[in-house]
Amino acid sequence: MPKLVVVTRDGTEHVVEGETGLSVMEVIRDAGFDELLALCGGCCSCATCHIHVDEDFADKVPAMSEDENDLLDSSDHRDGTSRLSCQIPFNDALDGLRVTIAQED
Ligand code: FES
Repeated sequence: MPKLVVVTRDGTEHVVEGETGLSVMEVIRDAGFDELLALCGGCCSCATCHIHVDEDFADKVPAMSEDENDLLDSSDHRDGTSRLSCQIPFNDALDGLRVTIAQED
């Protein structure tokens, strides 16, 4: 299974395995990280699954939709690496993807 590197808010790096076909949010949630609230369950309406994607993978993740872009605007912690993790399907091409859970708004 492809690996996902999750950096929690205290800066600690954790390596987890993720099932292909899940979203990055689901991989993080299923691995037990409770910092990622993902309150809407992945329907792109809460922005509590906000992560920062390592710049090495910027070209490998799918482009963001207008809805995702609008929602991210509601975060004070948005920057050029921000994404909603429920909008990124996890797969073999993303093996080794490193993401940081965004600070809470
Ligand atoms: S889980 Fe709500 S927007 Fe991603």
